[in-house]
Amino acid sequence: MRTQVAVIGAGPAGLLLSYLLHLEGIDAVVLETRDREYVRQRVRAGVCEQPTVELLREIGLGARLDVEGLPHEGFSLRFDRADHRIALTELTGKSITVYGQQEIVKDLIDAHEARGLPVEFEVSGVELSGVDTEHPVVRYRDADGVAHTLECDVIAGCDGFHGVSRPSIPDSVLKTFTRDYPFAWLGVLARTPPSDEELIYAHHERGFALHSMRSPEITRLYLQVDPAEDLANWSDDRIWSELTTRLAVDGDFVLREGPILDKGITPMRSFVAEPMRHGRLFLAGDAAHIVPPTGAKGMNLAVADVRVLSRALKALLKGDPAPAESYSDTCLRRVWRAEHFSWFMTTMLHTDPDADGFARRLQLSQLRYTASSRAAATSLAENYVGLPFA
Ligand code: FAD
Ligand code: DHB
Repeated sequence: MRTQVAVIGAGPAGLLLSYLLHLEGIDAVVLETRDREYVRQRVRAGVCEQPTVELLREIGLGARLDVEGLPHEGFSLRFDRADHRIALTELTGKSITVYGQQEIVKDLIDAHEARGLPVEFEVSGVELSGVDTEHPVVRYRDADGVAHTLECDVIAGCDGFHGVSRPSIPDSVLKTFTRDYPFAWLGVLARTPPSDEELIYAHHERGFALHSMRSPEITRLYLQVDPAEDLANWSDDRIWSELTTRLAVDGDFVLREGPILDKGITPMRSFVAEPMRHGRLFLAGDAAHIVPPTGAKGMNLAVADVRVLSRALKALLKGDPAPAESYSDTCLRRVWRAEHFSWFMTTMLHTDPDADGFARRLQLSQLRYTASSRAAATSLAENYVGLPFA
C-alpha cells in the first residue's frame, strides 16, 4: 500500500492534519490503535482558543461548533473567598469557545467518513522505518490482525505522549526537557447545569479547583489531587464536598450537584522534545510536547502544529523543502510560550504541599497583582485567548 503522508494517531492533531492535507489535494492514511467509539467518546480538553475556532470555521468544520459551542468573554480567578474577573474580550478584543475536544474529534471523523478519507482504527504493532530516507515505511496490523506495509513520502507522528513516533528518533538527535509537578487533576463530568456562566479558576489552601462546562446541562469540574491518588478513594459525595469547600466564596454562589457521568485522574507534566522533525518524520501535538492543563493549551497547541505542518508538507511534496526545514523552529516558538504560560498558571493557582511561607506569600502576591493590574490581567488574557498563528 502507498500514500503520501502516513499519519500515526487519530487524536485532534492526526485527524486535523489529515483533513488539512485532503483540502490541499494530498493523500493521507490515518492509523489509530484505539477503536472508533473510544476515540469519539474520550473526555479531555474543553477550551478552544480564538485562532483554533477561526481555523475550524475556515475549513468548513464550524457548523456544530457555532451552534453548540459556548463563547466566553471572561473568566474568574477565585481566591480569598472572592471573585476577580479576567475580562478577556474587553482586554484583548478576543474570546474563547468552550467546545469539548471529543466534539471536534467527532466532527473530524464525520468529515473523513463523509469524504471517504481513510482512518484505520484498532491497528496494532505500528513500526516506523526509513525515516532518514526519502521513502519511509510504516508496518502495522489491521483490526483483523492482517499485516500491512504502508509506503509513504512522509510520516506525521501524531500519536500522543505514549506513542511510537518520538521513540523512533535516535536519542542522540532528540533533546528533551521535563518538569513534573506534585499535583494531578481529578476531572468529573456531571449532569447538572453550570453553577456560573463563566469558568472559575479557584486557588484554595486545600488545593486548586476549576469550574467549567460542556453545555447548559453538563458541568465539567476539576480538583487538584496528589499524583499518587487512587480514584477509588473519591466517592461522588467526597468529590462534591471538596468542590464545595474549594469553590466557596463570600457571596451567593451555590455549587449545583448532579449525577457524575465520568471521572478520571490526569497527571500533570511539562515536556518538550526538540527538534520536532527527524528526516521524513514530523512530530505534532502531544507526541512532541505536553503542558499541564491549567492554561488550557494542550489541544490548541496540537492544532497550531498541524496548521504549520500541513503547509510545510504541501511545499515539501511540491519540491520546496524550506518550510519543512523550519517546521520545528516555527512550532517551538509557540510551544515554549505555551509551556511558560501553562507553568505560570499552574504555579500561581495550585497549592504546593512542599511550599514554604516565602513561596506561599509570593504566590498570593502574584494572584493579587494579576487580579488588580490591568497590565498583568491583559498579559494573562492575551496568552489565554491564543496568540496569532505564525
Ligand atoms: P492525543 O489526543 O493523545 O491523540 C493521539 C492518538 O494517537 C490517540 O488517539 C492514541 O490512541 C493514538 N496512538 C497512540 N499510540 C499509537 C500508535 N502506536 N499507533 C497509532 N495510534 C496511536 N488538555 C487541556 O487543555 N485540558 C484538559 O482538561 C486536558 N485533559 C486531558 C486528559 C488526558 C487524560 C490527557 C491524556 C490529555 C488531556 N489534555 C487536556 C491534553 C489534550 O487533550 C491534548 O493536548 C490533546 O489531546 C493533544 O492531541 P494529540 O492529537 O496530539 O494527542
Ligand atoms: C477545561 C480544561 C482546562 O484545562 C482548562 O484550563 C479549562 C477548562 C475544560 O475541560 O473545560
